Amino acid sequence: MRSKALALAMLLPLAACGKQVSAPPTTGVTDELIAKGPSDEWLTYGGDRAEQRFSPLDKVTDKNVGELGMAWFADLDTARGQEATPLMHDGTLYITTAWSMVKAYDARTGAVKWQYDPKVPREKLVDVCCDAVNRGVALYGDKVYVATLDGRLVALGQKTGKVIWDKLTIPKDSHMAITGAPRVVKGMVLIGSAGAEYFTRGYLAAFDAESGAERWRFYTVPGDPSKPQEGKHLEAAAKTWSGEFWKLGGGGTVWDSITYDPATDLIYFGTANAEPWNPAYRNTDGAGDSLYTASIVAVKPDSGEYVWHFQETPEDRWDFDSNQQITVADLDIGGQKRHVILHAPKNGFFYVLDARSGEFISGKPFVDGINWARGLDPKTGKPDINPDAKYELTGKPWLGIPGAVGAHSWTPMSYSPRTGLVYIPVNNTAQAYSHDPDWKPGTTGFQLGIDASPGNVPADEAVRAATKAAMTGALVAFDPVAGEVKWKVPLQTPTNGGTLATAGNLVFQGTALGDFRAYAADTGKQLWSFPAYSGILAAPITYSIDGEQYVAVLVGWGGVWDVSGGKGVTSRITPNISRLVVFKLGAKGALPAPPPSVERVLDPPPVSGTPEQIAMGSKLFTNSCSVCHGNAAVAGSLNPDLRHSAVLGSAEAWRNIVFDGALAHNGMVAWKTQFNADQIDAIRLYVIKRANEDKALEGK
Ligand code: HEC
Repeated sequence: MRSKALALAMLLPLAACGKQVSAPPTTGVTDELIAKGPSDEWLTYGGDRAEQRFSPLDKVTDKNVGELGMAWFADLDTARGQEATPLMHDGTLYITTAWSMVKAYDARTGAVKWQYDPKVPREKLVDVCCDAVNRGVALYGDKVYVATLDGRLVALGQKTGKVIWDKLTIPKDSHMAITGAPRVVKGMVLIGSAGAEYFTRGYLAAFDAESGAERWRFYTVPGDPSKPQEGKHLEAAAKTWSGEFWKLGGGGTVWDSITYDPATDLIYFGTANAEPWNPAYRNTDGAGDSLYTASIVAVKPDSGEYVWHFQETPEDRWDFDSNQQITVADLDIGGQKRHVILHAPKNGFFYVLDARSGEFISGKPFVDGINWARGLDPKTGKPDINPDAKYELTGKPWLGIPGAVGAHSWTPMSYSPRTGLVYIPVNNTAQAYSHDPDWKPGTTGFQLGIDASPGNVPADEAVRAATKAAMTGALVAFDPVAGEVKWKVPLQTPTNGGTLATAGNLVFQGTALGDFRAYAADTGKQLWSFPAYSGILAAPITYSIDGEQYVAVLVGWGGVWDVSGGKGVTSRITPNISRLVVFKLGAKGALPAPPPSVERVLDPPPVSGTPEQIAMGSKLFTNSCSVCHGNAAVAGSLNPDLRHSAVLGSAEAWRNIVFDGALAHNGMVAWKTQFNADQIDAIRLYVIKRANEDKALEGK
């Protein structure tokens, strides 16, 4: 793709593309309708163009929310993670579920209108950190657009669910995957991809909404410097990398936020970490800023041309993606009306930027304890990086706050123009990073260049309890003008649900422990809660039909790099039962009671293997398997807990699964190109050791 012809084509005006350019829709869901923002309907992922997730509906208020009850619910196909924001148009509620499936319901009754399964190969699971999740569809004209885990963009008939076109958008055979929701504007569908842990090169691409033809592709990181770059912005970026960085992809993927701003006629999007995480392996001649990773970038919608960027985490080495939701607002700052971007990325600072120019206005912490930077330069917003945090230089493990889970990740925040507050689902987490001197690029799973095993939770009750206590969450109401937290609701665990703000002076949020709650938007007082029995990650929406206001949310936890397992958080979460749940005033429905949780007693084979084998197994497990099977082999609720596995005692059965891929059709791929047979068995010996340690604790 890195040809001169392509570079030239990108500079030509849009008209030159001729037949690929269809006019934006004039009926159904139009740009004008989306621009009006949410009233009775919810038409786009972030609610409106500004992605504020604020609804002017005020039938349900801080006075009557106590009468809110369940109107209907729908069980979903799998127990895997649920992250989608539902959309509502013309009486139909559209959602996506795990494996990128789409469902359309009668928004009033819950009757299924149609469903669509893109038949994603289950092997694709190994290319994502956080489960087979999908964050939702886009509606445009008479179509529904879904982007699939295996990298396709699919257009469906809004009324029928029938496929109109289906197009591969990621490079063929790449480790990219898509979990994000597409956005639409000016006759185009916009989508990027995930994959900055798997040797990929990030981009945002635009496709013709009618035909699926590609209109433009904006790469976020430079390619091979000996070849022409696809645009001037990449020539500038190439100077901020060194060595043979392009051979490992570069990262900077665009896996979540994409915001079109009609006031500036710009598209803003966030980019992921650089690949691999450890700069020692991508900037071999010393750390550079690695543009445009961990940044917000603005481009022109018609051409995909670069306009400005702001890098939040230069030299990122902690997985501090800037993909988090980009919200646009008009604020009074220092006596001036400013059209700004509000952003709460993983790195823990809340940024206010000028939307037209990207100029830094302010950046203040929205969590406590940030230790990777001592603060931001008040003029430029550049962080003052703590030298101890540069683990590849110190050679010592670094316990970073926030950790890679981020002070805030994709779980959507909301902004209420009524209160002037931003409601952020916040994580308080720490993570150990250390340089891995022996790292080599591999083929399967995470490719980070770090060793996370020094951070393993030891099998010690006191240490576990302390870790659990330190891993918490909060709902934070942040004042972007004052740059301070206005109120805060502490939550027992990290990774709670996205938020919705309404004109009824309410904020809705689900928790990882399975409550769906409403708070007073001005004070943070909890006013209502509903037992959803399974953890909630997705953000709620609200809509109105015949004057009746509804609130809808997807229930189903999982999907976050398993911060739960070894920290003992999941043990307080009931098994995942994934559902769409819809509420209205006066309704009295209740969910079926969850099945009783079963106490599982550990019964592992006796410890065997040499200390060297077990140490090797610990490192390999932590860096490659823990992302799905849990920290220190204590799994969350999604994937098997290997301490209980029946194949633990059989080297041959273990090998069949892990080396040869006997369960690949269920998402557990073969690791034979990444590890040799001895390494695979060392992991087994490590898990046996872990199971025995925990068994000894159970007995106490
Ligand atoms: C991307 C997620 C993912 C990663 C990474 C992963 N696994 Fe799995 N693993 C799964 C899933 C999903 C299953 C369940 C498959 C099924 O239901 O048949 C599974 C099942 C297994 C099983 C069978 C357990 C049983 O008793 O049924 C073993 C053993 C296993 N994995 C070992 C490993 C090892 C060792 C690694 C690291 C080298 C690893 N896995 C990495 C997702 C993953």
